[in-house]
Amino acid sequence: MAYSDKVLDHYENPRNVGSFGKEEEGVATGMVGAPACGDVMKLQIKVGKDGVIEDAKFKTYGCGSAIASSSLVTEWVKGKTIDQALDIKNTQIAEELALPPVKIHCSILAEDAIKAAVADYRKKHPA
Ligand code: FES
Ligand code: FES
Repeated sequence: MAYSDKVLDHYENPRNVGSFGKEEEGVATGMVGAPACGDVMKLQIKVGKDGVIEDAKFKTYGCGSAIASSSLVTEWVKGKTIDQALDIKNTQIAEELALPPVKIHCSILAEDAIKAAVADYRKKHPA
């Protein structure tokens, strides 16, 4: 199956690969797995005191679409508040990357990773 140009671009030049130190101020981690295929995605956000996501990093062990989805969302979450980040829907990711139906779960993984990272942030920083 052919990947779209946008998937290939993110796959070949992934943005923001890596991780932050867990103890760094404002860092939260979301780790999710896809039951369908066993792929794993780790997404970290670094949130400033104003509640805005300053930076994001990912590590994904998975298919090209999963890597592209996580690369894309690290770009999308930057500059958003954590509430705004929760508004990112897998359908937007799938549309941006022109994912075929069998690869929709890869974009769901990225949406779930954002939710998991925000949940981790809220656990560490109760309002
Ligand atoms: Fe997981 Fe695609 S089945 S890499
Ligand atoms: Fe499973 Fe892409 S995350 S095939």
